[in-house]
Amino acid sequence: MACMSCTLSICCHLRCSTWPAGLLLSEFVLSHPELFFGKNCLEVGAGTGMVGVLLARIGTGKIMLTDGSLATLANLKNNLSINNVEVEEAQQANSDLNTHSSTRVECRQLTWETLFDKERNLDCNVILGADLIYDPLNIPPLVNLLASLLPVGRPIRTNGLEQNVYEYPVAFIASAIRNPDTLVYFVETVRKAGLKMAEVGETMRPAICLTGISDLDRSTILIHKIQAWKD
Ligand SMILES: C[S@@+](CC[C@H](N)C(=O)[O-])C[C@H]1O[C@@H](n2cnc3c(N)ncnc32)[C@H](O)[C@@H]1O
Repeated sequence: MACMSCTLSICCHLRCSTWPAGLLLSEFVLSHPELFFGKNCLEVGAGTGMVGVLLARIGTGKIMLTDGSLATLANLKNNLSINNVEVEEAQQANSDLNTHSSTRVECRQLTWETLFDKERNLDCNVILGADLIYDPLNIPPLVNLLASLLPVGRPIRTNGLEQNVYEYPVAFIASAIRNPDTLVYFVETVRKAGLKMAEVGETMRPAICLTGISDLDRSTILIHKIQAWKD
């Protein structure tokens, strides 16, 4: 990633650049805060941590920001710090989204190829990820991770008028489409893993919140909603 400092109109200061799908996912978070309120959120391949900063700003449940690269995680933690987001150090071996702690944001290394048992049991309501399928080799381990985590997250009972309506864990994965074959491979791999997948429709498309970025081609970025079958 090209290294630079960017300052966005939503007041998020970051070192290193956020990728295009990360910018659109950030707009999605800002446009639909109701999808994240009070929920335990896990971001995979978190990069600069921009999505995490916004999640912390809108107020969710616990937030776990992960990446496979330790250097990226170090930079991410620095970005959280300069944006005044308090970070919980994962010092305890059992620390995960299920534990109760006063600090809300945790950063940890999570490599999709090596899921440990304690990670298989993470109780997350929402998984987020952006610009993760640029390399087809990433797709099987990423989908395997989603197939491991989505079925184990606890459903949340909604506060709507209808009783006994539950929201099941969901992943929102934003992808810049650079090669259509890679997208087809991603969709096929998700379906083969027994997950259901739908493109976030026009009514859910994010509003343009990041007005300072002129060269972001939103038309080439898709957000997929992925869930485990529950019926
Ligand atoms: C293209 S960057 C996107 C970063 C950020 N989501 C964004 O939109 O700016 C992909 C990120 O995924 C991470 N990554 C790639 N392969 C990974 C793997 N197998 N396990 C964990 N993280 C991985 C990289 O370290 C990098 O931070």
